[in-house]
Amino acid sequence: MKLIRTPDEMQEMSAQWRKKGDSIGFVPTMGALHEGHRSLIQRARRENRKVVVSIFVNPLQFGPAEDFTRYPRPFYQDRRMCDASFVDALYRPDPERVYPDGFATTVEVGGLSSLLDGEFRPGHFKGVATVVLKLFQQVRPDRAYFGEKDFQQLTIIRRMTRDLDLGIDVVPCPTVRERDGLALSSRNVYLSPQERSAAPKFHQGLDAGAAEAKKSRAKPKDVLAAARKVVARIPGVSIDYLRLVDADSLADAERLRGRLRLLGAIRLGRTRLIDNIPVICKD
Ligand code: PAF
Repeated sequence: MKLIRTPDEMQEMSAQWRKKGDSIGFVPTMGALHEGHRSLIQRARRENRKVVVSIFVNPLQFGPAEDFTRYPRPFYQDRRMCDASFVDALYRPDPERVYPDGFATTVEVGGLSSLLDGEFRPGHFKGVATVVLKLFQQVRPDRAYFGEKDFQQLTIIRRMTRDLDLGIDVVPCPTVRERDGLALSSRNVYLSPQERSAAPKFHQGLDAGAAEAKKSRAKPKDVLAAARKVVARIPGVSIDYLRLVDADSLADAERLRGRLRLLGAIRLGRTRLIDNIPVICKD
């Protein structure tokens, strides 16, 4: 596996591969890799000749009071996982190379970025869209793999890719969960043992909402009430939001019809968790 440290080197590597006709699959990450990342890498491995994983803790997507400095950075462990998963190139640029002095251009996906998580993390999705576009320009992949766990992020990246004619296939991959239902996240390491044992109730609440949607004459408000009833019982929880939305526009669902998604964000102590599931309606 090749370790690449600069955008120029990455572009050069990618150009060589493309010249030979090799397809490129790309898994952008912020490191602290877990089984969820491994599943993205494995899918990329199956579908492409070359696989690139990036590790870059992107300062632009963290708010001033957020966890940028304490975000876990177990690089040697991450490198071992990439090696063992037959990744061709691990791209780990320095922040000064990604955002050199005078950097002034950002990308904002209108509308979608200010909803849901965007209401609680202003500027977050601008940071995500900007870095992902830059990484796309450097890696020039055919396909890029994103987890459904970050459903709003996935929706925004798909929109950006279409709006800007990037010609990259954005591949959504299912959320990987612990056996008790907790969605894997690099931030789960922040949870205390008590918080960790209570955290699966979040997913159970979403499941309770989705079950409610299958009942005849159920309404969006019943789905949300069923989810909230379970989630609100988690000791010490504070709910940022629980919303039932159209899976494409992320607008609040007015009826139980079409492709819907139940999403939430909660805080347990100092840890913020997000999760979501599809909602299958009765008709
Ligand atoms: O999902 C993440 O890990 C990050 O938001 C991403 C897509 C790598 C951009 O920094």
